[in-house]
Amino acid sequence: MSVLFKQGLVVTSTGSYVADVLVEGEKISMIGSTLDCAADKTVDARGKYLLPGAIDPHTHLCMPFMGTFAQDDYRSGTIAAACGGVTSLINFHIQQKGESILQGLDWEKAQAEGNAAVDYAVHPAITDPRQEVIDEIKTAISEYGTPSFKIFMVYDFRVDDSTMITLLEQTKKYGGLVQVHAENPHIIQFMNALLAKEGKLAPYYHAVSRPNIAEEEAIFRAGKMVELTGSRIFIVHLSSKEGLEMIKAFRSRGVDVFAETCPQYLVLDDERYKEAGFNGAKYVMSPPLRTKASNDALWEALRNGDLQILSTDHCPFDFDGKKDRFGKDDYKKIPNGAPGIETLLMLMHSEGVVKGRISLEQMVNALSTSTARMFGLDSKGSIAVGKDADIVVFDPKQTFTVTQSKLHMNVDYTPYEGMQMTGMPSLVYSRGQKVAEWQKDHVEFVGTPGHGKFVKRKPFPAA
Ligand code: URP
Ligand code: ZN
Ligand code: ZN
Repeated sequence: MSVLFKQGLVVTSTGSYVADVLVEGEKISMIGSTLDCAADKTVDARGKYLLPGAIDPHTHLCMPFMGTFAQDDYRSGTIAAACGGVTSLINFHIQQKGESILQGLDWEKAQAEGNAAVDYAVHPAITDPRQEVIDEIKTAISEYGTPSFKIFMVYDFRVDDSTMITLLEQTKKYGGLVQVHAENPHIIQFMNALLAKEGKLAPYYHAVSRPNIAEEEAIFRAGKMVELTGSRIFIVHLSSKEGLEMIKAFRSRGVDVFAETCPQYLVLDDERYKEAGFNGAKYVMSPPLRTKASNDALWEALRNGDLQILSTDHCPFDFDGKKDRFGKDDYKKIPNGAPGIETLLMLMHSEGVVKGRISLEQMVNALSTSTARMFGLDSKGSIAVGKDADIVVFDPKQTFTVTQSKLHMNVDYTPYEGMQMTGMPSLVYSRGQKVAEWQKDHVEFVGTPGHGKFVKRKPFPAA
């Protein structure tokens, strides 16, 4: 099967140009100003952008968490991804007590089998760091094509500083990457006790209990461990101006502290926790939403290159029956997380590019090119000959009002309800197969569950 995309604006991380793009089978085979070749199908892309499919390197599909489960599985989560123009994702597997890393990877593959509609990879999150688990890191990187591992500095399943040092040492040997959820648990425990004494238990106090310094301090400590070991680290879901300043300070001294941020930390702020009734629970996630000063600082960092990766931290729980059932009387019991995979690209275009905060090229870099490079997805991340034909034909003029009923995520709300989008996917291809298309007033899934494959990733060059 071949598809010829005619006269679209090909957007790369460094520039954009109008061209024809030929896809043969699963790959991009030719790009030229005009290609006079036969194809099984021709797509008129005049006036549209040809974007590389977005890569979401931070999702929680099928995840047991806080006494319940994140509601999207590989089927619903990847269908939603396809409809949002996300053609690859990297899911976190939270290691269960006694489980090995390789067992965890096999469990994820079994969940995805026959269900994944777009390509996927896995980051093991290490919570039970026994010696045999540390020893498995080499095999996970070199044989399983899984070079990134998450640790938590917070929650009951956090690891201590000495484990962090061990993991940084071990991953450095084989070209791996430690990712860290950076919040100081002692600051949070202190705040929780203070707020409980004052009877302050509504959703708003979730944000108060996790101040910016909790993130700043944890990033400082993680960065110092990187400095000590000469390794590298990746801060997930960076939320605060103070955390960002800490990362910039390390990087200015040549310490490899990388980071991602997410749309919620750019587009939403902590005023949301004050919404009427129990509505604030919709935004209970960790780290919490911050003030506008942090939103602005993170946009500025994307614009000037201090931050180059966007993810969603997609972790959906219903408002009715989950967020409210568990946490009605105490913010600490509200399952942490929010849905976002389907709204990633539309938000970054509308709130970022259309509002002049970032360029189209910076958006493509942060959603695809730089993500593929950081996480070793060699066949993904740009519209170029030889790459997988993961292509979004994007209509920059198509408008859409975000509403939960027109989205595919398996959850009863979206944090972005009612927001006006300008620019939506017209067509989405995954390895040359059409998986989603704009129909009348929303994007619809037209792919096949099971089409998505596990992608083996490349390590960093070993130190
Ligand atoms: O609140 C969040 N972010 N939930 C998902 C788990 C995590 O910490 O990434
Ligand atoms: Zn996290
Ligand atoms: Zn997460």
